Amino acid sequence: MDEIRVFSPATVSNVACGFDILGFPLESVGDEMVVRKTKEKGIVITKIEGFDLPFDINKNVASVSAMALLDVAKPDFGFEIEIYKKIKPGSGIGSSGASATSSVYAINELLGRPFNKLQLTEFAMKGELISSNSEHADNIAPALFGGFTMVKSLNPLEVLQLPTLKDLFVVIIHPQIEIKTSESRGILPKMVSLSDATKQISDLGGLVHALHTSDYELLKKSLKDHLVEKHRSKLIPYFDELKSKSIAAGAIGCSISGSGPSVFALAKGKQMAINIELIFNSIFSKSNIDFTTYVSKISSDGVTTI
Ligand code: HSE
Repeated sequence: MDEIRVFSPATVSNVACGFDILGFPLESVGDEMVVRKTKEKGIVITKIEGFDLPFDINKNVASVSAMALLDVAKPDFGFEIEIYKKIKPGSGIGSSGASATSSVYAINELLGRPFNKLQLTEFAMKGELISSNSEHADNIAPALFGGFTMVKSLNPLEVLQLPTLKDLFVVIIHPQIEIKTSESRGILPKMVSLSDATKQISDLGGLVHALHTSDYELLKKSLKDHLVEKHRSKLIPYFDELKSKSIAAGAIGCSISGSGPSVFALAKGKQMAINIELIFNSIFSKSNIDFTTYVSKISSDGVTTI
């Protein structure tokens, strides 16, 4: 095989109580990438469609991740990359994670799969580092592994695949304002209170147990963020209204997707998800801010070959 086209899903990371460690992929929202073998060694980006991103291989997340892989694999040929970007950079639904994931997954396939998903996560984290100044893996790991995914540890890297409930849908609103992950991380406190940390640990434990026992009530009680949301929500117009109205309408929970500005709500069943999408729409229709909404099942697949 000399050429491959892959789809890498958008992802919701943090998922309320799982700051920097928890995420899941969406079913049909994501980027595409074509990767082709070349005689010349190294990486070249030949096409970028969708958004204005750097062709400089040292500045593009996809090529930085790919080079981390090639540094270890050392093939005597190279690769060219075409990026078909559908996820807006800075949207909070794992745009850089999808780029980083697509390239390492595609090259690994073309090389005959010398690396496992954990190793691919490590390579992709090098790309995430240049986009956000932080080597978090809570978008990359779900994009590679699929389903609810927990990054148990970064050093050494450990990833846990959690069960995904069959009727669980996600609704996302992406207000078209830019919040860079680096800025959104920069406003977070370096220290948190013991009581907030205790609540967060308890809710994370509750969420994991709820997924294992298909307990939607426990999931609802656990889908809370005591550490990060109160700081970042100030950057997101109408956040409090999105949250209170969606929960009043029956959402399992509502919080910030990744580092924002997207906001997500979880819903049991597609009809409930569509109702919440209408609520999100009506709230933002009052504003002058353009926005996009998505309704998706939580995907149990990660990046795939098309
Ligand atoms: N966990 C990261 C954050 C995700 O919240 O900063 C950003 O993509």
